[in-house]
Amino acid sequence: MRKNIVAGNWKMNTTVPEGVALAHAVEAAVFAAPELKCEVIVGVPFTHLTAVKNVISKVKLAAENCADHKSGAYTGEVSAAMVASTGAEYVILGHSERRGYYNETIEMLKEKVDLALSNGLKVIFCCGESLDERKAGTHFDVIKNEIEGSLFHLNAEEFAKIVIAYEPIWAIGTGETATAEQAQEIHAFIRGLLAGKYGTQVADDTTILYGGSCKPSNAAELFAKPDIDGGLIGGASLKAEDFMGIVTAF
Ligand code: PGA
Repeated sequence: MRKNIVAGNWKMNTTVPEGVALAHAVEAAVFAAPELKCEVIVGVPFTHLTAVKNVISKVKLAAENCADHKSGAYTGEVSAAMVASTGAEYVILGHSERRGYYNETIEMLKEKVDLALSNGLKVIFCCGESLDERKAGTHFDVIKNEIEGSLFHLNAEEFAKIVIAYEPIWAIGTGETATAEQAQEIHAFIRGLLAGKYGTQVADDTTILYGGSCKPSNAAELFAKPDIDGGLIGGASLKAEDFMGIVTAF
């Protein structure tokens, strides 16, 4: 059985002390919560990983990116091995902000995925279409290309370390959520793609998250859909109370 996950993506927000306080508040709330039906992850800036790791135990840690090279003369980059050495379990890869602002290509993401897995990290792999692509009706193709191009070289054992996050770009930070039906349609499509490549068992076992203006008020409706296994949360992960409102929506 696949697991439900709610993961925060803090993006470029909070100083280290602010981030530690936020992580501490989330950990305390998770600890106090009766029986959570999901794994809780915080995705934090590189600078915060070690300090945040020190204040969490039930809550899992993710980085928001890693380099597409193993090591060496890449000034300013942070390798998958470095991320893993902080105690992080996950890395978020392929976020649309990285693809869009930092020109991350399908090929680069394939390298990043391989380096993450070979360093023992699990990957939260983001995919999703822009508004223009949705209007043009190419959203299924966009998602198929992103997933096939960066992930389908993996074998089934490697693929078991992948969490998919469907994030329609038009819903990220805009307040405009995909309807639960729109999200479910894509999630079912993604699960079908995975079944075609890896078989139904692997497809059924893969966690597929929704991301894009997910908040306490809409999380329950989204998570009630059969193929939506949780969320990747941006803005609403920056306040422990809002984030916990989503975590407890299952
Ligand atoms: P949002 O961001 O929740 O602020 O829309 C989601 C994401 O980009 O992961």
